[in-house]
Amino acid sequence: VTVEHRDAMGAPADVTECPLMPTYGPPQVMFVRGSGTRLWDETGREYLDFLSGIAVTSLGHSHPVVAGAIADQATRLQHVSNLFGTEHNWQVATVLDRLIRSGHPGGGSRGQVFFCNSGAEANEAAIKLARRWGGRGKHVVVSALRSFHGRTLATLHATGQTEKHELFQPLPEGFRHVPLNDIAELDRVVDETVAAVLLEPIQGEGGVNPLAPGYLADVRTLCDERRVLLMMDEVQTGLARTGRWFGHHHDLVAPDVVTMAKALGNGMPIGACWARADVAAAFRPGDHATTFGGQPLATAAAKATLAVMEEIDAPALAESAGDRLTSSLRSRPWCAEVRGRGLLLAIEIGADALDGRSGADVAAACLDAGLVLVGAGASAVRVAPPLIIDDADITEAVSILDEVIDR
Ligand SMILES: Cc1ncc(COP(=O)(O)O)c(C=O)c1O
Repeated sequence: VTVEHRDAMGAPADVTECPLMPTYGPPQVMFVRGSGTRLWDETGREYLDFLSGIAVTSLGHSHPVVAGAIADQATRLQHVSNLFGTEHNWQVATVLDRLIRSGHPGGGSRGQVFFCNSGAEANEAAIKLARRWGGRGKHVVVSALRSFHGRTLATLHATGQTEKHELFQPLPEGFRHVPLNDIAELDRVVDETVAAVLLEPIQGEGGVNPLAPGYLADVRTLCDERRVLLMMDEVQTGLARTGRWFGHHHDLVAPDVVTMAKALGNGMPIGACWARADVAAAFRPGDHATTFGGQPLATAAAKATLAVMEEIDAPALAESAGDRLTSSLRSRPWCAEVRGRGLLLAIEIGADALDGRSGADVAAACLDAGLVLVGAGASAVRVAPPLIIDDADITEAVSILDEVIDR
């Protein structure tokens, strides 16, 4: 099969000669520059970014404070082993602990952080911590159908999409899945072998499916009664995206473990697993480790990202821009439903307006028209714009959607 593909130097090449493994389809566009809410491709064409690298560049592309912190750190110290102390990881962990607990009833309990490099690794750390905490025979992790927790073998099995499991059997044992928002079914599967329940506050990859009001509080009660950890996967929802610092803050429930990644470095790869200190104490030196986790460049970026997010009150920006975007979308005749919270939204397009096209078709047509977003299931697109979008960005994005869907 010959498919036009861009090689690393930007020249068109046959896909069979492409030096990258075909884990992604051939890209439609190659981006070479970004600033704020805008991206530019190799021909100099400008795009409006309503995806942020899938909920990553929340402060916009090339944010000067983050870029400055990375550049400054790069000239001083790029890497030493975690066998030694480094400058920023204590500070970033302290800020994360404060932000996580800021949404917990009564100020919550102090926690500790393990740094890694991605969302999957943050969840992998959480799963290992749950097994270490539970002890022999109490190791099962229960997660929701349609959830997404990563692509390593363990996080793939935690991911509640059985069609993704088949090609990679046998997967590590110790995972069960339940329908989302079904407390009776959770009650049925949580037995003495279960160490933890792992949930996203809003399922992102699964199609932007929120938790039902009251469900998380019921899960907390069940976990307390059965001595089971409640672990929140905030990889996509965390760090202001839903209009609160963390998605679970909307529910006024304090989990035992919180994982995050994506927005933490505004594009610099960094993940983190936070756990209440008495739970984190289950790990002893040597139980878990990573060469790069918490290294100076990544934590310099995270420190700058968190400082800017606090300064601009990123949760408030996400909430108010999300409200304005949602009401603008709901006013469109083609819009059947808007799901999600803050600036993590799925836009369902009515069957008449879709006229046989899929959400992915609409996303591809939007990219052609200069708007970056992604398909979400058969009839929806997902947006996760930078939290700094203004009214002009919202008007432009909605009018591109109008134009593409009318066409
Ligand atoms: C909720 C959630 N968990 C985990 C992951 C995996 O993160 P990563 O791709 O950084 O490994 C993702 C990625 O989309 C995610 O949305």
